[in-house]
Amino acid sequence: MSDLKVLSVASEIYPLVKTGGLADVAGALPAALEPHGIETRTVVPGYPQLLGALTGAEPVYHFDHLFGGPGRLLAAEAAGLKLFVIEAGHLYDRPGGPYVGPNGVDWADNAQRFAALAAVASGIGLGLVPGFVPDVVHAHDWQAGLAPAYLHYSGGRRPGTVMTVHNIAFQGKFPPELVPELGFPPHAFSIHGIEYYGTLGYLKSGLKLADRITTVSPSYAGEILLPEGGMGLEGLLNDRSDVLSGILNGLDDAAWNPATDEHIPAPFDLKRLKARAANKAELQQRFGLDPDPDALLFGVVSRLTWQKGLDLLADSLDTLAEMGAQLALLGSGDADLASRFTQAAQAHPGRVGVWLGYDENVAHLVQAGADALIVPSRFEPCGLTQLSALRYGALPVVARVGGLADTVIDVNEMARTSGVGTGVQFSPVTTPALQQALKRTHKLWQDKALWKKLQRNAMATDVSWERAAREYDRLFRDLVAERAA
Ligand code: ADP
Ligand code: GLC
Repeated sequence: MSDLKVLSVASEIYPLVKTGGLADVAGALPAALEPHGIETRTVVPGYPQLLGALTGAEPVYHFDHLFGGPGRLLAAEAAGLKLFVIEAGHLYDRPGGPYVGPNGVDWADNAQRFAALAAVASGIGLGLVPGFVPDVVHAHDWQAGLAPAYLHYSGGRRPGTVMTVHNIAFQGKFPPELVPELGFPPHAFSIHGIEYYGTLGYLKSGLKLADRITTVSPSYAGEILLPEGGMGLEGLLNDRSDVLSGILNGLDDAAWNPATDEHIPAPFDLKRLKARAANKAELQQRFGLDPDPDALLFGVVSRLTWQKGLDLLADSLDTLAEMGAQLALLGSGDADLASRFTQAAQAHPGRVGVWLGYDENVAHLVQAGADALIVPSRFEPCGLTQLSALRYGALPVVARVGGLADTVIDVNEMARTSGVGTGVQFSPVTTPALQQALKRTHKLWQDKALWKKLQRNAMATDVSWERAAREYDRLFRDLVAERAA
């Protein structure tokens, strides 16, 4: 029986629509909260791929005017998720991604598309659907940032609001002229409201006006208070640091379970670690690498963007090849980075293999077959690929930032003698430091007994959602109690 209702507000949700880790979190948190007596429904935009996946959709509200056209609110289920879907063809019924068109350019009406998401969330918060009146509205990233703002300016009895930052680099800034069209009172456009350096700031609004702010790791919660990490929002966040906390993400352990994984040729677990060799062989074959069980095989599963620091890796491939190691990189995004890796694959045949594109199957194979996973991010709010790497026994080699710093235990001297290491960290995030980390990893690889121990430590790490769910549960309940007082 649930005694607390949470409305989650998200622009993507796994497995229906995903561009990154935000979707994974939005998709997994509801089930993790259920045992705590928390019923979550997620309000999402009605993209075509999402509408197509719904079963038993039931209209629960009709909008005459939703930012330029009519719309309906559907209550529906899909993939085990309880959803409110905003069906509004003029905003969401189009080919392409959730944020960009097929030409890769942001949709020109993103301001309206995500104001609609937030406004509908606020409406549900205020009782639009009598059967589900939430106690807490939980907004994810800038796309949902206006939800706490709409609720704040509604003047009515409202639920508590939580703003979660998955990535502060994306802030949702739009022209101030939109303020009346979006339905905010003129006085809302001030430094105390939705104004952000002369623009209309979606993330800023949420950070300013939500009752609580969370981000996805304790270290990132500290980093965004500093000028470099806050990316312009550090002043506001310092003002609100009393309501800011970091809750580390978990990993969807049904989707990422090496013992039952249907995407890989040889499922395995701690007791059947030998089976991993077959996955490595398959990975080498699929990526055009030499079929060498003794070569240290590094993997990468990533968006190709500046954030992820993969240019440092592109600069380190000679070092990697000289050590006799291999690289299998799965990535999609930036064309320049992609072509650098493609050229590197040609320069190092059998040593560097590249798979460009977004492919869930291949992502699982990389985690299951690689010996180590490289994540050289310049910043990383949490990071999920190092969590799957831990679970799959691919030792993470990570930059010491954000959630990477919080989830991987560096095999330093003390960690080694205490038997607790799970991977390798490096700092600063520079090419020489990464190269040193690659060499250090190679040295560990040569000590087979130690490597096996580290692999076992990694696989035994608790990366489940349970810990995070306990923390969200406490946060939501404290907030509700505070508002009732
Ligand atoms: P971010 O959200 O910043 O991209 P995360 O590590 O939090 O970083 O989440 C990335 C998610 O996307 C993971 O689930 C990862 O497996 C997946 N992913 C990233 N790139 C690819 C790719 N090219 N193909 C398949 N899955 C990918
Ligand atoms: C963002 C961050 C990533 C985090 C994910 C889920 O995409 O870049 O570090 O894991 O959100 O919270």
